[in-house]
Amino acid sequence: MNSNVAQHRWWHGAVLYQLYVRSWLDTNGDGYGDLGGVIDRLDYLSWLGVDGIWLSPTMPSPDDDWGYDVSDYLGVHPDLGTIDDMDRLIAEAGKRGLRVLLDLVPNHTSSAHPWFVDATGSRGAGHRDFYVWADPGPGGGPPNNWLDATGGSAWAWHEPTGQYYLHNFLASQPDLNWWEPAVHAAFDEILRFWLDRGVAGFRIDVAHGLYKDAKLRDNPPETATGPMAGKFGQKPVYNANQPEVHAVYRDWRRIAASYPDARLLLGETWVGDLSLLARFYGDDDELQLAFNFPFVFAALTAPDLSGVVAETLASLPAGACPVWTASNHDVGRFPSRWCGGDERKIRLALLALATLPGTMVLYYGDEIGMTDVDVPLELQQDAMSRGAGNGWRGNRDRARTPMQWDSAATAGFTAEQVTPWLPVGDNAAVNVASQRDDPGSVLRFCRGLLSLRQAELGGQIAGYQALPGPPGLWAYRSGSLTVLGNFSGRPVVCPHPVGAVLLSTIGPAQPAAGGITLAPWQGIMARNPDAELGD
Ligand code: GLC
Ligand code: CA
Repeated sequence: MNSNVAQHRWWHGAVLYQLYVRSWLDTNGDGYGDLGGVIDRLDYLSWLGVDGIWLSPTMPSPDDDWGYDVSDYLGVHPDLGTIDDMDRLIAEAGKRGLRVLLDLVPNHTSSAHPWFVDATGSRGAGHRDFYVWADPGPGGGPPNNWLDATGGSAWAWHEPTGQYYLHNFLASQPDLNWWEPAVHAAFDEILRFWLDRGVAGFRIDVAHGLYKDAKLRDNPPETATGPMAGKFGQKPVYNANQPEVHAVYRDWRRIAASYPDARLLLGETWVGDLSLLARFYGDDDELQLAFNFPFVFAALTAPDLSGVVAETLASLPAGACPVWTASNHDVGRFPSRWCGGDERKIRLALLALATLPGTMVLYYGDEIGMTDVDVPLELQQDAMSRGAGNGWRGNRDRARTPMQWDSAATAGFTAEQVTPWLPVGDNAAVNVASQRDDPGSVLRFCRGLLSLRQAELGGQIAGYQALPGPPGLWAYRSGSLTVLGNFSGRPVVCPHPVGAVLLSTIGPAQPAAGGITLAPWQGIMARNPDAELGD
């Protein structure tokens, strides 16, 4: 199977949709979205033109990290529904040609997971080695300098057994020990359990993190700056990012390949170096898709975006499928981060995301231009980021607020008398109901864009070619398309010939002497000039 010739796979050129279940639609009036709500709006997602959905964590969890602290990998969280609901969801999605990906969390469990409960029983407990235990450092205190996601020590003291355990995130999220073969066996079984039930694959949480340095060496100080630099002044050299992780994905890829229709492994590969990102694709024998965070954190400028796209495409192995996304439940929404709520920029960013070859991942609400919400401290729900401001590494609740279905006080997310678990954003105009009937809305623009993408680019994963241009212009050919984007506040003349204009983000395309004039922040999708004659 290790051929460099790309076989067509369903995710090639597909549109995936990250659906934060708790904020999607509440069907039983408890203020939390649920699987019933996902089923209820599958028709909306097919209408939009989505090919598959990634559900934020659905497994039982004490919710210290809203499902990213799993206490049972083979179940469904009671707040979200039952295993029967999940089976029904997979079946109903299947009827509409929609695939379902689950969020799989192999880096750590909840401290409430029976494995950890057993592991804390005694040093000789059966599951002791499922976790990373260590004696105090030479002078007493934690075994090394590793810090967790809140900036405190990544080690928690366990008095009854006299050792520390490792937690790269919250203390209630003990890291699993991937040097232990039984952990591999347990996860192989978990993968099969869900693949047998018909899930199309997994988004793999903290995919770069599973193995830690066997010698538990201290992390060095961070020297890099910028959004991908290690947090709290530390470079995460030893508490994550170990090469042994690749063998896990080769094993999982074999498991995925043992199923009749192609199953997908999509990694949350939080690495700043695109050559390291490329390694997660292996020789077409590891992950089929790996999230590209350098792209997420690029600035919304022509040189930054075109630079990171060129470097990505040059780094990925031949036949690998790139992934383009810009929002998620951790980093916030691109309509805020990139666009500051400016609708011209939101449309332009959507155009770029939809016309780059590969897989596009939308975050719920991107299609209506939902922006981050200022959640007051007393309403914040995320223990890991409570109290932080709305910056990119700030409060994560800002991007987890209820889907805005209509303009009612609870946005159609839940009944009017129910208090949603997080407050509703500004939904006067940014809502599905009003935009669906308005041909000039972001939603209708996005839907039209996805349908053109499907028709013009099909399953394309390559064929990008940058075109030179004046400052502010990012122009490229992508298969049979020419895409022009003015990433500046001034009009720009694009000197390149184009064929039929298929779509403009705002206003008409204005022919000018020697090209097309783009208004500030205008984007255009056209056919290539030669395609007019040829096909
Ligand atoms: C990933 C998730 C994030 C979570 C963390 C720990 O980064 O996306 O939401 O807090 O892992 O599981
Ligand atoms: Ca509910």
